[in-house]
Amino acid sequence: MNAASVGTSLREIDDLPSPRGLPLLGNLHQLPPATHHLTLERWAAELGTPYVFRLGTTPVTVWNDIELSHAVMRERPHRYRRYAPIENILKEFGCNGLFSIEGAAWEPQRRLVMQALSIPHIKAFYPTLAAITERLRRRWEAAARAGRVVDMTDDLKRFTVDVTSALAFGEDPNTLENERVLIQEQLALLLPMLMTRVNAPFAYWHYVKFPRDRKFDEAMIDVHRHIRELMSRARARMREEAAVEACETPLEETARAPRNLLEAMLTLRDAPGSGITDDEVAANVLTMLVAGEETTATSIAWALFFLGTDDALQARVAAQARQVLGGSAVCPSYGAMRELDLCEAVCTEASRLHPVAPYMSLEPLEEVRLQGVRLAAGTKMFMLHRPAMMDPDNYADPERYDPDRWLHDHRHEDAASERGAHEPRAYLQFGAGPRVCPGRHLAAVEMRLVVSMLTANFTAQLATNPADIREVCTFTVVPSEMPMRLTLR
Ligand code: HEM
Repeated sequence: MNAASVGTSLREIDDLPSPRGLPLLGNLHQLPPATHHLTLERWAAELGTPYVFRLGTTPVTVWNDIELSHAVMRERPHRYRRYAPIENILKEFGCNGLFSIEGAAWEPQRRLVMQALSIPHIKAFYPTLAAITERLRRRWEAAARAGRVVDMTDDLKRFTVDVTSALAFGEDPNTLENERVLIQEQLALLLPMLMTRVNAPFAYWHYVKFPRDRKFDEAMIDVHRHIRELMSRARARMREEAAVEACETPLEETARAPRNLLEAMLTLRDAPGSGITDDEVAANVLTMLVAGEETTATSIAWALFFLGTDDALQARVAAQARQVLGGSAVCPSYGAMRELDLCEAVCTEASRLHPVAPYMSLEPLEEVRLQGVRLAAGTKMFMLHRPAMMDPDNYADPERYDPDRWLHDHRHEDAASERGAHEPRAYLQFGAGPRVCPGRHLAAVEMRLVVSMLTANFTAQLATNPADIREVCTFTVVPSEMPMRLTLR
């Protein structure tokens, strides 16, 4: 028995309720990739949880219990791991980095990434963050002057790729000012292909390649070439700087501290007997690019959806932003940015209603008993996140978009009972436990910078019918589009 076990009468997964499927296919035909998360949530409402569905012949159990999610996520990497097909497929992509690596190899990588994304590091990096935000502002100013509709999902991804690359690799690709940057287009293929292959009933691409598999393979060759060039430029910079330092201080210890994640990984890899390979470093470069790009861009894009359809809210956010920014177009300092709570809250609340990660997929490494159900090692588990975020016991009036719910101090009991339920533990958009997202602080800073810059300098209006914007699952869940019309203030 383990920490998450409850109940006495033991059930097998075949005893769980299940949507009716077909022999061999299971429920695959009922789960179109782009919307399968919605079907899983509907089945949870209809059948109750836990339930089991089948991807081909593979049973997948589905759970909806916050405390269970916390308990399972806490017991990683020793008792639970991420869904094994994710690691298998990412290995084939040359992308088996921190997100998917398991076992003893995970911890040293985690330490490096945590250091690179730590608050002091981000604070020191703030001037670069502000400069990239200013570049985004100039791009939007040009669009506003030309009366051009902005494709927010695309622009925000350019912003997040520039930020991650500059912070983690010490090189800024400036996708915001280079209209056709190939890496941007190639990266966009990775998550959808991961999703397709993770959910495929068998590894068809080992036997036959469809045109889109071939296009993807070619894109990955280019992405890896780009990453190797990035690595060799970083090595050359490190050698040059070490040589300069050696000339200036010939009698001193000349090794200098790595300045970013890539330098830290290369230093470790190049140490005698490290056992780390260039392939592992490259896998983490790609992991960081992918993990930091769409997630943050999507959370901001959904916030713009709500701001772009609510003039009063937008005016309120703009008033706070203008007050904090003073005369600057972009938040002038890390200290001032901490005043921009509302700018982060609009994004947090947007991702409560439209989660980027509507479920987490895991599996136990040993037999476990959860809520009276016996799960053999390797049983697939999907932990749903949205039902708990839409439960009135966790969030008062849960259908309402209300960023203020994240701003109240819920520790004061009287005021809290007047406002109604607010259960931060039900918000699992960054995961939980030892593998909680290491980029969450960077993401929060990006949200504050972009939302304050946008509202202080522009008014924004959604340039399509809100009802036309759908959730599309491409491993993470993104909006189908987010076109906006900006006007200079
Ligand atoms: C709003 C933005 C973001 C969201 C919603 C998000 C969400 C997540 C989630 C749900 C996980 C899994 C956590 C778990 O297993 O408990 C995760 C892991 C991870 N995230 Fe994020 N993320 C965001 C931004 C970022 C950024 C900006 C970076 C880096 C630049 C990043 C890097 C990573 C990495 C490397 C992992 C794997 C950690 C591990 O397994 O140890 N994320 N993220």
